[in-house]
Amino acid sequence: MTSLDETFTRRTLVMRSFSPSAPIADKTLFAGRTEQMSTLISIAFQNGQHAVIYGERGVGKTSLARVMKSAFSGSAWTSYYTCSSGDTFGSIWRNILSDFPISDSRPRAGFAKDTVTATSTLADMLRDTDPTPNEIRGVLELLGEADGNAVIFIDEFDRPDAPSTRSLFADTIKILSDQAVPVTIVLVGVADNIDELIAEHMSVQRALVQIQMPRMTGDELMEIVTQGMRSANLGFEEEFAKQVVRISQGLPHYTHLLCQNAGVYVVEQGREKVHAMDFDFAVTRALSNVSQTVREKYHRATFSNRETLYRQVLLACAMAEKDELGTFSAPDVRDKLCEVTGRRYEIPAFANHLTDFSSIDGARGGILAKRGVLRRFRYRFIDPLLPPYILMKGRVEGLTKELS
Ligand SMILES: Nc1ncnc2c1ncn2[C@@H]1O[C@H](COP(=O)(O)OP(=O)(O)OP(=O)(O)O)[C@@H](O)[C@H]1O
Ligand SMILES: [Mg+2]
Repeated sequence: MTSLDETFTRRTLVMRSFSPSAPIADKTLFAGRTEQMSTLISIAFQNGQHAVIYGERGVGKTSLARVMKSAFSGSAWTSYYTCSSGDTFGSIWRNILSDFPISDSRPRAGFAKDTVTATSTLADMLRDTDPTPNEIRGVLELLGEADGNAVIFIDEFDRPDAPSTRSLFADTIKILSDQAVPVTIVLVGVADNIDELIAEHMSVQRALVQIQMPRMTGDELMEIVTQGMRSANLGFEEEFAKQVVRISQGLPHYTHLLCQNAGVYVVEQGREKVHAMDFDFAVTRALSNVSQTVREKYHRATFSNRETLYRQVLLACAMAEKDELGTFSAPDVRDKLCEVTGRRYEIPAFANHLTDFSSIDGARGGILAKRGVLRRFRYRFIDPLLPPYILMKGRVEGLTKELS
């Protein structure tokens, strides 16, 4: 093999070992989440229980659901459907039920020993375009007769616009649970709390187990680095991994992105190990791979022809100490702004910046959500994927070397 071939092969291996843009489907590259996995396993084999997996954008909900689907597929019927905005209760079920084949064998007319097999799916059992929850229950009961336990994953459950979808699903879950139909429904969606996903959720509370997906812990992100580097046949210095974990802020997308860029760089250099010194290079390269939406938001919020403090204030917001809800206050920003600029600014010097970032329709708005009362406002980044990008920009532009 020429060295060019070898570099190509090693590069491909790195690309496959990290997946910044796609959910994980391969168990060997899946890190952590043991508690959520065991909860799902116990729900799936307990009649009458269903689950909802919810959390911030990008924390790893789909990856968990995908890995669990393949784990269940050996012992249960499984189906996975990803909703889109135009979906309705009926279209979602039609898609799911078409995953379950039924075959109907009957004697062919006139030939005693011969049979015909008409293969259709459970979707063909639906008579109406707008089925009721009870009709869905009737069809799903056929799976029980076929001696099957089924686990059905419905992802992006927050997407359908049709207002009735959420209450029809609540009713379906209630009926399936009350009648002990051997089917487990797992809803997956972006939400801060379950009320945003399920209408009248109190009525299904007992039947619906809530699995909140928090951001990943430092240890879980470290596991992503370790597993991925092992799969890519690369060594790494601990300090490199620590910097990656720190800048990722619990979001696995950035861990994959930085490791992939560092790994490719090291391979191009003909080396076997990622050094702490490679971190800055990885950050620079990774910036252009961050989604266009995130990059545009940053640009819009900080663009100016004059010398202004917008970049520094936004960086201080990304660095600010957050509570468990991800919120921070103006005094938290003041402390970090001091670290970034090396100067002491009092709150009035940047209060307008915070107001601009949290305006609804201003040119720099839509970045922060503001809650609370005057002088006690708390802020939160609306897009969780933005702060790590701001930290990366700050680092590359030399605004800070210290990232917290
Ligand atoms: N447990 C995990 N181990 C390793 N990588 C993970 C894990 N969970 C998620 N990831 C990675 O993180 C990124 C985001 O994951 P995923 O798409 O599953 O998140 P999500 O919560 O479904 O996002 P969205 O809210 O946009 O639908 C992907 O690059 C995925 O590969
Ligand atoms: Mg997802």
